[in-house]
Amino acid sequence: MPVILAIESSCDETSASVCADGVILSNVIANQTIHEAYGGVVPELASRVHQQNIVPAVQQALLNAKVNKNDINAVAFTRGPGLLGSLLVGVSFAKAFALAKNLPLIEINHMQAHVLAHFIGDHKPSFPFLCLTVSGGHTQIVLVKDYFDMEVIGQTTDDAAGEAMDKTSKILGLPYPGGPLIDKHARQGDPDAYKFPEPQIPGFDFSFSGLKTAILYFIQNNVKANPNFIQENLNDICASVEKRIATILLNKLKKAADEYGIKDIALAGGVSANTGLREGLLEMGAKNGWNCFIPKLEYCTDNAAMIAIAGYHKYLKGDFVGQDIAPLARMPL
Ligand code: KG4
Ligand code: ZN
Repeated sequence: MPVILAIESSCDETSASVCADGVILSNVIANQTIHEAYGGVVPELASRVHQQNIVPAVQQALLNAKVNKNDINAVAFTRGPGLLGSLLVGVSFAKAFALAKNLPLIEINHMQAHVLAHFIGDHKPSFPFLCLTVSGGHTQIVLVKDYFDMEVIGQTTDDAAGEAMDKTSKILGLPYPGGPLIDKHARQGDPDAYKFPEPQIPGFDFSFSGLKTAILYFIQNNVKANPNFIQENLNDICASVEKRIATILLNKLKKAADEYGIKDIALAGGVSANTGLREGLLEMGAKNGWNCFIPKLEYCTDNAAMIAIAGYHKYLKGDFVGQDIAPLARMPL
């Protein structure tokens, strides 16, 4: 029964998790509020806060799991992709812990881990399945053939879906990260109040930069006519933007599902926490006879539980790395 300690530090969440025999016993996430004032993650500040949070997060994860550090069998960590300084903190901690306790190290690709979050719990998709992985830095349709055999069949050619959410919220004067706030306001608004364009991109690829520009001009023009336009219509604007982003994502997902003849369809990544996207997938799934898989909210945004479950499956394969391992800012699937 392998007990795995997992560390995630790729962006602005410091997270530690303990899993025993593929069951998550704890998942501690320390969020960083310091970036709110800057409208986005400041890499240097993120690294410094990881440095402060990593030891308490691991201690809390062990405590919550009721596991002694001497009972750990392996240490899994996010190697990339992500902010290099942030990754360095997690990788260095994992290496030091493994060295001190003479444990094997398991490197994890953060984007694979988002997909593998679906193997936490009992409701698991069957291979092959399609996963729409939507986060602050990535937007991908992934053909998942096996735990570590994944192919990106479509991706964004410019901004990620989460970036589109965050940039829109910035235009609206909301703090970072804007995705959860757009979601909150959208619940009170009319999704058909305003129509934003759906880009025509070939294949299964996405583009969000045109939408971002359309939103910017729309807001600028309306604020010129009425300086209170945003305050008076915030809920409707958020609902309409959210609906457009969700339909762009879901229409491509449907195209891929039809072409590949796959009915097990999953969502992953921070934007999969979005209410409109989750409801949209379920609606589309019901119409098309799909088995839909949507992670619990705590496994959508960055967390170490997904690193732990990915680590468990690598542990079973005996897939370990040495102390000479280094983080990677870019790391293909
Ligand atoms: O996966 P994640 O936590 O970090 C990255 O790997 O990027 O994703 C973060 C992204 C941010 O852009 C954030 O605004 C977005 O996920 N997000 C949401 C929601 N919760 C987080 N977007 C829309 N609705 C949400 N409820
Ligand atoms: Zn992520």
